[in-house]
Amino acid sequence: MKLWGGRFTKATDKNVEAFNASIQFDCRMYAEDICGSIAHATMLARQGIISDADKDAIVNGLKQIFEQIEHDEFEFSIELEDIHMNIEKRLTDAIGEAGKRLHTGRSRNDQVALDTHLYLRREIADVAGLLIQLQQSIVKAAEKYSDVIMPGYTHLQRAQPILFSHHLMAYFSMLSRDFEHLQFAWNMADRMPLGAGALAGTTYPLDQPYVADVLHFGKLYDNSMDAVSDRDYIIVFLEFAAVLMMHLSRLSEEFILWSSSEFKFIELDDSHCTGSSIMPQKKNPDICELVRGKTGRFYGHLMAVLTMMKGIPMAYDKDMQEDKEGVFDAIDNLKFALTIYAAMIDKMTVNGKHMRDVLEKDFSNATDMADYLAKKGLPFREAHAVVGKAVHYCIEHGKVLQQLSLEELQAMSPLFEQDIHHYLDIETCVAQRRTYNGTAPESVARQIASGKAVVTGEEGQLQSWNSVVSSVYELIK
Ligand code: ARG
Repeated sequence: MKLWGGRFTKATDKNVEAFNASIQFDCRMYAEDICGSIAHATMLARQGIISDADKDAIVNGLKQIFEQIEHDEFEFSIELEDIHMNIEKRLTDAIGEAGKRLHTGRSRNDQVALDTHLYLRREIADVAGLLIQLQQSIVKAAEKYSDVIMPGYTHLQRAQPILFSHHLMAYFSMLSRDFEHLQFAWNMADRMPLGAGALAGTTYPLDQPYVADVLHFGKLYDNSMDAVSDRDYIIVFLEFAAVLMMHLSRLSEEFILWSSSEFKFIELDDSHCTGSSIMPQKKNPDICELVRGKTGRFYGHLMAVLTMMKGIPMAYDKDMQEDKEGVFDAIDNLKFALTIYAAMIDKMTVNGKHMRDVLEKDFSNATDMADYLAKKGLPFREAHAVVGKAVHYCIEHGKVLQQLSLEELQAMSPLFEQDIHHYLDIETCVAQRRTYNGTAPESVARQIASGKAVVTGEEGQLQSWNSVVSSVYELIK
């Protein structure tokens, strides 16, 4: 019989049972379900709601179940619907009556909320570690290739020369914001929902602050109805994941372009590429394409939970069971993407010479020529027009700006002097952009130095998250 079968006279339709069940996916929260139950049972005994003997039997029984699941000796059953009832039924089978007292003062509504809060905190710490690793790989590459100059683009047209490390550090900045987003996700998940019961609180003298303490939660929910029906922490996590994937997708697009024969800016390591079954010469950036391609499903997961939440009345509704699969899928794919991208950046080779050669043959220094004239007093708009004509002249004569003779230049503006060729040098163009966040070597060096400080701060945060997470799982040891 079902744990809730008392008022029923007929068995559940098999299709209904299968459609209703969540055990196929919520089984991955078994450790959280067990830790939550241990904390709950311990509190019940402290409050004199169950006996110490019952509490001991429950805690030992749960620890055994944990071992069985860890060693693949636990068969999950669809008939028992979800992780909560699978574990409770097994516990009762093992220890008898005491097992039936575990659910006192608790509902699956606050139980599932507790499990997902715990689960998400653990995964946030894991993901944070991988995010930091990727940031470190970016910093390492930015230092390794600090003297490489490349064309910078707008509209995917060559625009102005930049340091390759400047380009990489832009992604570092994006990932730092992702880390801030993740901190917000942690704060949202760090609220303890147990004790809300089904929706209204319970009639037992529960000690919720004690449970929060045992499970190392920073705060409690103020309202029991909110506690069982809040899914904001899941939405914020999915938001974080969607934005992070959008960032990785942009990087993917660049890697795909840069490793093409048309660009030849980088080469990805063989271990990160795949071949074609028909074209023997091919080396494809499948991983980058997959990261770009998978970004859509992250947006989908976020949209699904937002949409799921927008029309449901207070408090818990079964719709909310739909909050998990997207999160699990996001976590799995995110961990892969972050891990592979860190290794891919570590192992890629950068064709600095080719990027430099490309710059010698184009007009990326045109702005610098206009700035030269403007600094000599010509209004910038007029300087822009003079250089525009110079570019046109070059195109007609098969030259680039730095190949124009002083005579040719002075015919265009008497303000040009001998030193113009120095200012058209690609190195000079980069070195002159000394604004706070510009591409000059000293500015990029500052970004790298402050980036390292950011990573040190993130590592401190990660350490404190890890210590919270591991203290919770101490409960099962
Ligand atoms: N499997 C359910 C979920 O994930 C657990 C809570 C069920 N609560 C209930 N009242 N049916 O949401």
